[in-house]
Amino acid sequence: MKFSPTLGLLALVSGASSLTVTTNVDQLRSKQNTTVVPNTFIVELQPDFHPGLQPKDRFAKTKPGAKPNWRVRHQYNDTDIFYGVSVSFDSPVDLATLRTSAGVKNAWSVAVVPRPELRGLWGVNKGGTKLPDYRGSSDVNRPLDMGNVQKLHDKGIKGKGVQVALIDSGIDYTHPALGGGFGRGHKVALGYDFVGDAYDGSNDPQPDGDPLATCADGGHGTHTAGIVAMQDPKKQGFGLVGVAPEATLAAYRVFGCEGGATNDILIAAMIQAWRDGADIVSMSLGLWQAWEEINPFEDVVDKLTSHGVAVVASIGNFGTAGPYSSSTPAISLSALSVGSIESDIYPTAWTAHDDQHRAINYINVFPASELGRVEVVQLGYGLAVPITPNITSGCDQDAWDALSNAQLNWNTTILQVSWESWCGTAWGPAADLGVKALLVTMSEAQDILVDEPGSEPAALYLDIDNSKLLLSRLAKQPAGKKYALTFDGTKAVDVANPYGSAPDYFSSFGPTIEMTLEPKISAPGGTILSTFPVDAGGYAVLSGTSMSAPFVSGSLALLKSQNPRLTVPQLFARLMTTARPVNELNSKLTASAARQGAGMIDAYAAVTADTVISPAEFSLRDSASPAPQKITISNQSRSRKRYSLQHVPGTFYRLSNNYLSDIKDNFSSANLPLTLDIPASAQFSQSSVTLGPGQSVTVEVQIKPQPDMYPFANPVYSGFIKITADDDDEYSVPYLGVPYNRTEVGPIVHNVTTVKPYDSPGILKAQATNLFLADALTPTPNLETYNWTTDLDEAYIPVFRIDTIMTRFLRLELVPANVSFVPSMYGFDPDVHIDYKFPDQPILPGFLDVPTYGLVLAESLEPQPEGSPIMQSTDIGHFLGLALLDPSLTSDKGDKFRIAAGDYRVLFRTLRWRGNETNPDDYESWLGPVMRFDIPSDLPPDFPNSSE
Ligand SMILES: *[C@@H]1O[C@H](CO)[C@@H](O)[C@H](O)[C@H]1NC(C)=O
Ligand SMILES: *[C@@H]1O[C@H](CO)[C@@H](O)[C@H](O)[C@H]1NC(C)=O
Ligand SMILES: *[C@@H]1O[C@H](CO)[C@@H](O)[C@H](O)[C@H]1NC(C)=O
Ligand SMILES: *[C@@H]1O[C@H](CO)[C@@H](O)[C@H](O)[C@H]1NC(C)=O
Ligand SMILES: *[C@@H]1O[C@H](CO)[C@@H](O)[C@H](O)[C@H]1NC(C)=O
Repeated sequence: MKFSPTLGLLALVSGASSLTVTTNVDQLRSKQNTTVVPNTFIVELQPDFHPGLQPKDRFAKTKPGAKPNWRVRHQYNDTDIFYGVSVSFDSPVDLATLRTSAGVKNAWSVAVVPRPELRGLWGVNKGGTKLPDYRGSSDVNRPLDMGNVQKLHDKGIKGKGVQVALIDSGIDYTHPALGGGFGRGHKVALGYDFVGDAYDGSNDPQPDGDPLATCADGGHGTHTAGIVAMQDPKKQGFGLVGVAPEATLAAYRVFGCEGGATNDILIAAMIQAWRDGADIVSMSLGLWQAWEEINPFEDVVDKLTSHGVAVVASIGNFGTAGPYSSSTPAISLSALSVGSIESDIYPTAWTAHDDQHRAINYINVFPASELGRVEVVQLGYGLAVPITPNITSGCDQDAWDALSNAQLNWNTTILQVSWESWCGTAWGPAADLGVKALLVTMSEAQDILVDEPGSEPAALYLDIDNSKLLLSRLAKQPAGKKYALTFDGTKAVDVANPYGSAPDYFSSFGPTIEMTLEPKISAPGGTILSTFPVDAGGYAVLSGTSMSAPFVSGSLALLKSQNPRLTVPQLFARLMTTARPVNELNSKLTASAARQGAGMIDAYAAVTADTVISPAEFSLRDSASPAPQKITISNQSRSRKRYSLQHVPGTFYRLSNNYLSDIKDNFSSANLPLTLDIPASAQFSQSSVTLGPGQSVTVEVQIKPQPDMYPFANPVYSGFIKITADDDDEYSVPYLGVPYNRTEVGPIVHNVTTVKPYDSPGILKAQATNLFLADALTPTPNLETYNWTTDLDEAYIPVFRIDTIMTRFLRLELVPANVSFVPSMYGFDPDVHIDYKFPDQPILPGFLDVPTYGLVLAESLEPQPEGSPIMQSTDIGHFLGLALLDPSLTSDKGDKFRIAAGDYRVLFRTLRWRGNETNPDDYESWLGPVMRFDIPSDLPPDFPNSSE
């Protein structure tokens, strides 16, 4: 069960773990999740290379293909969309070499895209294929109002004639709300299973023609399909209606019942969807990957778009990592990436009554009728002390002991526990005691999200109002008299969601590393009730950008059904310019476009818009004073209109703390990105215009961010240009940028740190048995001695402390102390004379003609061939605290060797923004002071492990 978000991968960058020191490179390596399949690539071939042959045979004509040791995984033979292969080699192959081979247009590593998580609630089916009738007073279709879809349904606009392809985990089309069958004439009319039930991303797929998925863990696709096009039949289910209930669905199954899917299968599925005539390809999946330059989906999405197929994809569920947490394929430039907004209500609450027939509503996906009449016992009962939240939250072991001693019959008893922020969900002992169900009360507004299905005991949640009701009734109960509830309500009611209409905490942030505005738009995606495999209960309440993407796909189907001739970019622009920006949670500030894109989708406004605004977004990239932008407003109505322009600033974020102090102003104590009020300003060449029918005008807008003193904190500013017509129609254009010049700032964080131990770049001297950075010593300027000994307590070793931002290549190595290399930055006074003690250590040729003793660490954005000492780095910002515990280096060929005593300097080189790896001028570098190493020649080979 989960209430408060956990830390994302970028925790290291945010400063939360800034005292962490890594002791060796292998440790760093193991921290990285290998999503890349070794020696396996998607290869796009040149269209004119050996035309007439099949992709496989063409690949065989390339130089890497001339090697015998590869096998084809997929062939892509559509010259219109994508022509190439995915191949797996038996031996290491260098991606850069592959990419530059004759006949090869481009190449990417095959990587595993993780399975989208199922965050939410579902149950088990007890009723066979016919589903119970849960219809009650709950406004189950509230998301349709939030996205202004209902008004289109009322006019009969339901997506007829538009084909939506779902690339997902398959669909249980036997569900009565999804048509009950598969094939022509059914709601799920087309599809293919690329993988089979047993596929997990690492084994061989078993394709077949039927995309049916009935496993609960494969229920994701059934849920997203429902969001697009479900329609509960009379007297079954909740009365749910999808966004485009008359659209045709095509189901391409790429996930089995567990595990991920490789990106080469996703590309095959995208191409198949196009072949089968899809209008919209909806992808509720993604791999956290915020660099556009290595996105393998870019070309395919672009080609599909130019053929009139719209690609809609989830931006990702990595929002707790803050800015730059978006994923591929969503960030493909022609795709529409979708963020998530929380539902206004919990749509599935149920009523229980006490003996005086007073109601209590609890949240669960299905009614807990099987409980019947149960007596409510509070955790802490039987203790001779007042019952406090600390006791009922389960954080006090005495309470569990008392409960155990009470010997209660859990067939007729339910346990009331409370959720408290300091304690979380410490209810584990309940399962051991045999508790069947928990009534969970709240003392503050909480995002109620249960993410472990089938958890024992079942947790039934009470919102704040019902929590107060229950607790006051329990408090008033006469001593010795039990309070009982009967779980007799079987018709759904709803309760308000205090997080409703705000961006969801899990929704990934833009921009891309290349500073393109992402996500493009948002839709309801938090706490969404939709269809689920019949065997798994038929319905689930799930949360994720997986849920908001199909909402947008469905809305797009409605728009497309009314405007079949608009191009994909025109359709997207309509959706974006008519969306409504929302505020941050519990705030008067409009949320950044980096969080919500253009805002909450408004399907009705998109369909009925009679003004065209172009462009639909501004990515202002990196500048303290971005160039003026032009907005064209075209009145396509039959009447004269007056438009006024306004600027609405959005919130400001920082990815890292500001480095000037240890005050954190990037992430809150709950590890959510802080929303700062540092608004940009905007000036218009005209603040209002009047246009006759068919007329258009171009207005210039100059956006100016506030100067930011902390570029190394990766700040992002944003806002909206709002255009209001005198008939009250509203349009807006989101913008986003970073308020500094990334090229000028450079990738090495420097000159801004004053508080030890945050200095970067630098070296600290640490005792080998205490790598706590705060305890490390500041070395003497220019020259410091370090020593290794088998008695680790006596060893004082160097710790390299270097922070970088947005670099795709870095190299940390030890070089001769008298190196003539001129760095961008010196870590010593070059005028001070030192008598060097040269080590008896061979000098290697080195990188870009700089002589070296060997590498400490090298990282690049893309995976390197097996055996390479260069690691793939997945970090966006980079906090390096690396202790040289074992005085060993690595050659560029990957050989590791122990070094000899003597003088060394550390050289750090990192590629500047948009730099070329082979150009020495494109690096920012730092050369450190002399490190005089005292390394005993008898240091054991397995030091430090061998030391006492
Ligand atoms: C790495 O993968 C494991 C297993 O899939 C997962 O639990 C963990 O959160 C991942 N770590 C990161 C940093 O993404
Ligand atoms: C391309 O591949 C598909 C699927 O493998 C196949 O059905 C089709 O016939 C091929 N087309 C050509 C022109 O080879
Ligand atoms: C409840 O527990 C927290 C954390 O252990 C503690 O800080 C707090 O003082 C406790 N409150 C009471 C009222 O005992
Ligand atoms: C609880 O119910 C189960 C199943 O009906 C039964 O086997 C068990 O004996 C009951 N326990 C008690 C303490 O009544
Ligand atoms: C950023 O600085 C570089 C180097 O001075 C310059 O070439 C580039 O034009 C600048 N970019 C912008 C957007 O001002």
